[in-house]
Amino acid sequence: MTTISVRPLDTEDWALYRAVRLAALADAPEAFGSTLGREQAFTADIWRGRLTKRNQFVAEDAGEACGLIGIVPAEPGVAELVSMWVHPAARGRGAGDLLVREALRWAKDQHLPEVRLWVADGNESAERLYARHGFQRTGQIQPVREGEDELEFAMARSERPRPMPRIASS
Ligand SMILES: CC(C)(COP(=O)(O)OP(=O)(O)OC[C@H]1O[C@@H](n2cnc3c(N)ncnc32)[C@H](O)[C@@H]1OP(=O)(O)O)[C@@H](O)C(=O)NCCC(=O)NCCS
Repeated sequence: MTTISVRPLDTEDWALYRAVRLAALADAPEAFGSTLGREQAFTADIWRGRLTKRNQFVAEDAGEACGLIGIVPAEPGVAELVSMWVHPAARGRGAGDLLVREALRWAKDQHLPEVRLWVADGNESAERLYARHGFQRTGQIQPVREGEDELEFAMARSERPRPMPRIASS
């Protein structure tokens, strides 16, 4: 068994990025808010544009792409983790852990201490993965796609320093 590695994608990797993202949407349509049909129509410029910030990471096993994650600034101090996917043949070997770790490192380097994400209700393997990295449910819930019944819930983690506890004066 080879070792899985993770690297950021650059704009010249756009065709690889497109291939992995479309494979993810074809394999696990229930896990994503977007759809295969929508993204198949994207132009090369759209794919390149998504890679300008080096905030999409690919997992590779012996040089073959086997997973993807993205992390995007959402609001001041907050990033959103998106597009998490590992090829079915590569699951259960820690690729998900490696991808989440790289995305969290990117958020930290960009001074985005809070990271949020959405998980489809019932996606227990994804929830376990995120919980291992300190994410907790926030209580927010919404439809995965507009006009459909499937629900997703929000999870978040924060590296913001906690306020100092007050020390009561005696
Ligand atoms: C969710 C998903 C990304 C997890 O991918 P993964 O690479 O299997 O993730 P992990 O690194 O967490 O590994 C999964 C399991 O293997 C175990 N594992 C991790 N490293 C391991 C290793 N080196 N050896 C053996 N087992 C290992 C983990 O403990 C975990 O066990 P658990 O699920 O019982 O808790 C993957 O199932 C997937 O792509 N699903 C479809 C898309 C999706 O749902 N995306 C999330 C959208 S929010």
